Amino acid sequence: MSIVFLNGEYMPVEQAKISPLDRGFLFGDGIYEVIPSCNEKMIGFKWHIDRMNDGLKAIGIDLNWKHDKWQSICEQLSEKNGSGSLGIYLHISRGADTKRFHAFPEGVEPTVFAMAFKIPQLEGSDLNHIKGYALASTLDLRWKRCQIKSTALLGNVLHFQEGYEAGCQETLLFNDNGELTEASSSNVFIVKNEVIATSIQDNQILPGITRRILLDVLRKDGSFKVEERIITLDEVKSADEVWITSSSKEVAPVTHLDDLEIGSGQLGHIWFKAASLYAQHKFNY
Ligand code: PDD
Repeated sequence: MSIVFLNGEYMPVEQAKISPLDRGFLFGDGIYEVIPSCNEKMIGFKWHIDRMNDGLKAIGIDLNWKHDKWQSICEQLSEKNGSGSLGIYLHISRGADTKRFHAFPEGVEPTVFAMAFKIPQLEGSDLNHIKGYALASTLDLRWKRCQIKSTALLGNVLHFQEGYEAGCQETLLFNDNGELTEASSSNVFIVKNEVIATSIQDNQILPGITRRILLDVLRKDGSFKVEERIITLDEVKSADEVWITSSSKEVAPVTHLDDLEIGSGQLGHIWFKAASLYAQHKFNY
C-alpha cells in the first residue's frame, strides 16, 4: 500500500510531505472518509462522497470536486495499490496557514490526501468463519456533533482504547441518559424477539453508510420489522443479538458485552440472514 494521492499527485507514501502548520495536523481541522472497494468497484460510493461533502459544508471548507473526480482518484489509487479488497481513505484539511491561529485562514487551499489500505474480507467473505466480537461499554464523552466525520478523532480513539485495553475489539457508547449512541468506530444494531433496532440518526452518531445500506436491504427484503429508535443500556444487555456495522467490518456479530454474554453467546441466526443479505446486495449501492 505505498502509492498515495496528495494535492493532485500520486507518489510513494515516503515522498508525501505536508507542512507542520497544516490545520489538519495542528487542530484536527478536516473531514475524512473511508470507502470500501473491491477491484475498483466501490460500495456506497455516492453516499460516501455525499456524506463527505455534507461534512465539508458543515465546517466551511470550500472544495467542490465532482463525484467523477473523486471516483477517478479512488479507482486510480486502487489500481496503483494492487486492487483487491481495499479501503480508500480520503482526507481534506483546511490547509496550511503561515501561523497557528484558530480562525479560518483566508486564501489557503485545502490539503487533499488519499491512500488505500487492505480490508481482509470484503470479497466473498465466509460468514461461517466469522468470530463474535467482544465489546466493552462506557459513557459517551465525545462532542455533540458526531454526525460530522471529523479528522479530530481523539474522543473516538480514547474510547476505542478503553475497550482495547480490556481485551475487547470495540467499545459501545451510551449517553448521559443511558441510551445507546454508537460504538467508537461503528454503528450498532440490536435484535429482540425478531425485531431489529438501531439508534436514531441524530447528532450523537455518524450517519454510517453500512448502516444505511443495511437498513435499506432489510426493509426491501421485508422479513423482519426494523426500527430506528432510542435503545437503552438494559435493552442492549438483554438483546437476543447485537451487531456492529462499518465499512471495514461490514455487519459483525457481537457475542460479549463487558462480562455478559449476548443472547446465547453464539452468532445469531438473524445476524446470519442480515449479513448474507448485505453481502448479496452491497455492490448495488
Ligand atoms: N469508521 N461510527 C463511527 C464513529 C465511525 O467511525 C464509523 C466508521 C461508523 C460506520 O460508518 P461507515 O459504515 O460509513 O463506515 C460509525 C471508519 C471506517 C473509520 O474511522 O475507520
